[in-house]
Amino acid sequence: MNRLFFVGAGPGDPQMLTLHGAEALCDCGVVYYSEPYDVAFADFLQGKELFDPFDFGFHQLLEQIESQLQKTSVAFLVPGDLTFYSPYQGIVCHFAEKAEVIPGVGVANVASARLKRTFDLPAVCNRALIVSPKTLGASSSAPELEELAARGVSLLIYMNNMPLEELVAKLHKGYGADVPIALFYRLGLPEEKVLLATLDSIVATCDGVDYFHLNEPEKRPALTFVVVGESLCAPVDTTWWDQKRQTDWAKRKKAGKN
Ligand SMILES: C[S@@+](CC[C@H](N)C(=O)[O-])C[C@H]1O[C@@H](n2cnc3c(N)ncnc32)[C@H](O)[C@@H]1O
Repeated sequence: MNRLFFVGAGPGDPQMLTLHGAEALCDCGVVYYSEPYDVAFADFLQGKELFDPFDFGFHQLLEQIESQLQKTSVAFLVPGDLTFYSPYQGIVCHFAEKAEVIPGVGVANVASARLKRTFDLPAVCNRALIVSPKTLGASSSAPELEELAARGVSLLIYMNNMPLEELVAKLHKGYGADVPIALFYRLGLPEEKVLLATLDSIVATCDGVDYFHLNEPEKRPALTFVVVGESLCAPVDTTWWDQKRQTDWAKRKKAGKN
C-alpha cells in the first residue's frame, strides 16, 4: 500500500536527514517541499514529481494527494520536524492511518550544537520555553513575550516578526538584565551565520542586516532562529557532576545490581 510520509527534513543540510527519512524519500514518486529543500536536497529529489504545498488550497491539496497515492507513495519534507510550528497537522489528521511521521533534527537541536551549549543548565536555567511572537500575537489572551522572559528561562524564539530593536526591548523588560542572545540565520545552509552577543550589543552586532526579512515582506519568511538566556554563556558548576552521582546515579546503579 502506498504511504504518505511527513519526513522531518532538518534545517536544510542533507547530512541532517535521518536514515529513516532518506529511505522513505527513496520510495516516493511525489514530494511536497518548500524553499530551501529544492536546492539543498536536489540529489534526493531527482526524477520525482515536485510540488509546493502552498500553491494549493487545503481541500484541493487533500484531493490531489488522494489521487497521487493511487499511484505512488508521497512525501512532505517538513522543515525541522513536526514537533513545533509545522503547518501540516490538518493533513496528517486527515490521512490518519495512511500517514507516517518521521522525526527529524529540529532547528533548536542544531542551534544547541553550534554553540556547544545545553539550553538548560543546573543552577542557572531551569526552563526552556518555545515561543513565537507571531503566534503569541495572534491571540489577545496569550501572554506577552516580556512576561515569559525571566531569569532562569531560555527562550527559543521561532518566526520572529518584530523589528530587532523592539524584540530586544521586550526581552530586556522581561529579563531585567543584559543577558546573552544568539541569532541563527539559515542554519545548515551555505549562508549560515551565527551571531552571539548580549541584549545590549546584538543590534550593533547585526550591523543593519535584516536577518528577519522584515523589510522585504514579499520574500519567503526568513529562516532565522533566536535563543536568549543565561544558559548560552554562564559558567558551568563543575561540582554538579559529583553531587548528581552521589544523590542519583550511584544509588541507581547499586539498586540495579540488587
Ligand atoms: C514554521 S517554523 C518550522 C520549525 C521546525 N518545525 C523545527 O522544528 O525546527 C519556521 C521557523 O523555524 C526556524 N527555522 C527553520 N529553518 C531554519 C534554519 N535553517 N535556520 C534557522 N532557523 C530556521 C525559523 O525561526 C523559522 O521562522
